[in-house]
Amino acid sequence: MDRGSRILGLGTYVPERIVTNDDLAEILDTSDEWIRKRTGISERRWVEGDVGPAELAEPAARQAVAAAGLELSDIQLILFATLSPDLFFPGSACLLQDRLGLNGCAAMDIRNQCTGFLYGLATADAFIRAGLYEHVLVVGSEVHSSGLDMSDRGRDVTVIFGDGAGAAVVGPSTEGDRRILGHSLHADGALVDILKLVAPASSMNPRLTAEMMEQGLHYPYMEGRAVFKQAVQLLPGLIRGILTQHGLDLDQLDLLVPHQANLRINEMVARALGLGPDKVINNIQRLGNTTAASIPIALHEAVEGGRVKPGDLVCLAGLGAGMTWGASLIRW
Ligand code: ACO
Repeated sequence: MDRGSRILGLGTYVPERIVTNDDLAEILDTSDEWIRKRTGISERRWVEGDVGPAELAEPAARQAVAAAGLELSDIQLILFATLSPDLFFPGSACLLQDRLGLNGCAAMDIRNQCTGFLYGLATADAFIRAGLYEHVLVVGSEVHSSGLDMSDRGRDVTVIFGDGAGAAVVGPSTEGDRRILGHSLHADGALVDILKLVAPASSMNPRLTAEMMEQGLHYPYMEGRAVFKQAVQLLPGLIRGILTQHGLDLDQLDLLVPHQANLRINEMVARALGLGPDKVINNIQRLGNTTAASIPIALHEAVEGGRVKPGDLVCLAGLGAGMTWGASLIRW
């Protein structure tokens, strides 16, 4: 068997501040009933003050390295997935690297939104299989709350998103068939307009004006129904496809860890695949949609909660802006 890789340790950090649906109903024309019925979300975590995704990622990264039984100095590459980078440039990976005191190691950002962690995991796996690195830190971290429209205009998007960070240390697989089996990564740039942040943009001169801000172009734009439709159409085939690619079928799947975009999406995908609630992890009820962070946080919770045991077959899957979508299959 060729050299493989596996997740050696996981970490999570979410801000302490809990924002309930009732809290949002005090500032927006919305209700706990509407949000729970349409999205499944009851509460989410939002940062207080000036906190960026690199700061959120630091405790998650430290926890993942400790869980892997490694020292920080063992990390040779940091991959940082986010759609809410601390700065336009440089990337949040560099900011996190400095926070961790790993100055000098390789660091890069991945801009693939809800699929970002999966693109990062695939990249880490490829580097390790190729023998270029031994230990790669893959992080998904988002601060949405500082960029959401807190007026009624943005209520469809604002109620969905939460802040948080998840991290995984990926290293060589030394325990038989316990390894990342493979990935299925996709994108369709023709769908860029259904979910995007219009401004600031380097393709406009000037990149941001007071008029653009008055129009709310610096807040996320989402055609919710179109995103919903793409997710329920694409995800079941994606998951079936990656299993078939590896000569496996749905009966052999122990756990699906889907991106937490909307509980209804995950329920429909599970139904389409015939997977019962014991086979699917959902935590959007407590955390909202944390985008690049949602899959590593959900996976970490699954492992901590004893829902993943050595040898289990685990599928991670998600879809987001781009559109981008993907899945990873792991023999845990
Ligand atoms: N509270 C109360 N009413 C609301 C809210 C709100 N927060 N938001 C919208 N409404 C209203 C609308 O104005 C509309 O009113 P109208 O009928 O009087 O015109 C009504 O509710 C229905 O609006 P729709 O947008 O049609 O509602 P829908 O059932 O599609 O639900 C939602 C909206 C929850 C956004 C849904 O489309 C969805 O979840 N889509 C998927 C979105 C998603 O998953 N995004 C993230 C994935 S990608 C990523 O993670 C980056």
